[in-house]
Amino acid sequence: MKNGYEKIQPLKHKNILLCVSGSVAAYKAVEILSGLKKLGANVAVVLSEEAKRFISTLSFEAISHTQVLHKDTESWVDFGKSLDFWGSSFCADLPADFRADSIKIPCVDSIANSHTDSPSDSSDSKSSFADFAPSYPHPKSHIAYAKWAHIVLLAPATANTIAKLAYGIADNLIVQTLLATNSKHTQILLAPAMNTQMFLSPQVQSALDRLQDYGYEIIPPKEALLACDEYGVGALAEVEEIIFRTLRASYMRDLPLRAKKPNKNSKQYDFSQSDFKRNNFGQSRFWQSGFWAGREVIITGGGAISPIDTVRAISNHSSGKQAIALAKAAYTVGAKVTLISSKIDSFLPSQIECIDTQSNDDYKEAIESKLRDFGDFGGFYDSAKSKSIKNKTPSERKKPVLFMAAALCDYALQSPKTYKIKKSTSPNLTLELQSCEDVLASIDSEKIYKVGFKAESVENITQKNEKNTLENTLEYALKNAKKMLRSVNEGGKGCSCVCLNAISKSSTPFGAEDNSFYLLDSRALCDNQGDACEHIAFLPPQSKLELSHQILDFVQSSLQGLDSAKTPLSAKSNTAKNK
Ligand SMILES: Cc1cc2nc3c(=O)[nH]c(=O)nc-3n(C[C@H](O)[C@H](O)[C@H](O)COP(=O)(O)O)c2cc1C
Repeated sequence: MKNGYEKIQPLKHKNILLCVSGSVAAYKAVEILSGLKKLGANVAVVLSEEAKRFISTLSFEAISHTQVLHKDTESWVDFGKSLDFWGSSFCADLPADFRADSIKIPCVDSIANSHTDSPSDSSDSKSSFADFAPSYPHPKSHIAYAKWAHIVLLAPATANTIAKLAYGIADNLIVQTLLATNSKHTQILLAPAMNTQMFLSPQVQSALDRLQDYGYEIIPPKEALLACDEYGVGALAEVEEIIFRTLRASYMRDLPLRAKKPNKNSKQYDFSQSDFKRNNFGQSRFWQSGFWAGREVIITGGGAISPIDTVRAISNHSSGKQAIALAKAAYTVGAKVTLISSKIDSFLPSQIECIDTQSNDDYKEAIESKLRDFGDFGGFYDSAKSKSIKNKTPSERKKPVLFMAAALCDYALQSPKTYKIKKSTSPNLTLELQSCEDVLASIDSEKIYKVGFKAESVENITQKNEKNTLENTLEYALKNAKKMLRSVNEGGKGCSCVCLNAISKSSTPFGAEDNSFYLLDSRALCDNQGDACEHIAFLPPQSKLELSHQILDFVQSSLQGLDSAKTPLSAKSNTAKNK
């Protein structure tokens, strides 16, 4: 199982405590452990005595490379010594050149102060938290384990442990450990697994509600044929779902720590390539502000399909992979994501809303219907106990962002045949195609920030071609991309940012795992140095997921200034809506 994050290692230096209780789904915890390790996490495991009846400690130890904590292995020897590590004295003693991007400790002030360093101040030769943080908890006591964990994942969570946890009945090691965590430092997630009636029982439901009120995140079970031979809700959520939820929770957990003192340069994007290298997942300074957290993000992907007759159609080679990668990336950094695509053939977390589309009209209707749902203000912060949008003050709401990565039809038949055209009666077929409405231009940029995607053939980087025209040159492609940034009245598309794909014979992004982009925003328009200006960012070839995180950084750097400058939509649009 691969989700694309294995290469990025977003959970590096993250301490995750996996607690396993006595469900028949306990064997899946081994797969969860393996998935988390592949994303770079340090994982330690606690097993309930009942869980040991379902699965051996050896499986967990072989993968986590550390001894499993359970009743027989708990030890209080050396207890006092290592706890100092987590105390305030340790935080006060941090070295001055402590590397900001890898700090993962509960000393909020130290973290915030270290983020005031500009990225260029940090270098690999300096001290990193990895040099100080223990990869595994020590000693083997539930208190040490609780303090060590940034994230606790209880999966599977039994009815018994859920109920005890809700009421603080600390008669087993898992409940003792979870109660000993500090909620400011540690996010707890639980993934229940049990028989349908057990799960739906008022006792379990009210215990889950209670835990949610305490700030625990519940990963709902799925419907499936259960071990008890009944079909219904209660099966442990998909392992990939659990991994994505943990990844997102880990990012969200860090937000308050990172946002305490934003980097003084955080509104400026450095267009030099070295900065892109530094903008790796989990290290980007733009992530500090929570710009994406709770924001509604619509991503379109795939290729539109325009019918010729009842069986034939015109489409393009878009695979939808870039949009899927963008959806995963935006979800991971906390956005509320809707993916509108003709091609969704990969696992996506269930919290991403997926809308299947075919024609240009389908895409347009899906986008407009979402905009109607958002009302005048779009997305909003998504706290653990999220209030309804109606209770949000305008300042809590965020203008949504549209990533128009789909390749819509530029041309279509005006009246497709309502029957199958016979080859015998039409040996040669001539189709007259008409140009389609520009869906991106038609979306009101007052209601949503628009990020346009453009693919242009580029055979020749800057020189004119044989016919001495600019067509198929990078210069020409950039000129067209810049045009998209202009308002619709000026012949543009009203985009805030544009991602340009320069397609050549040797590199075509369709269906590929890797891609590369030129990124532009209004800063490129102000540039009078022609098209080879320095305010166009180039993202070299890399995986579509890595690119997606860099695109999010770039878009954030463009929009956060606009966000703070603009008040949410005015009474004008309220009036328009009420008409
Ligand atoms: C074969 C078998 C399967 C079980 N599966 C589950 C389950 O999926 N979910 C659950 O809540 N309890 C299940 N139980 C019941 C728990 O194992 C029991 O409540 C136990 O006390 C839980 O202990 P723990 O929460 O400390 O791990 C199962 C019991 C047996 C014998």
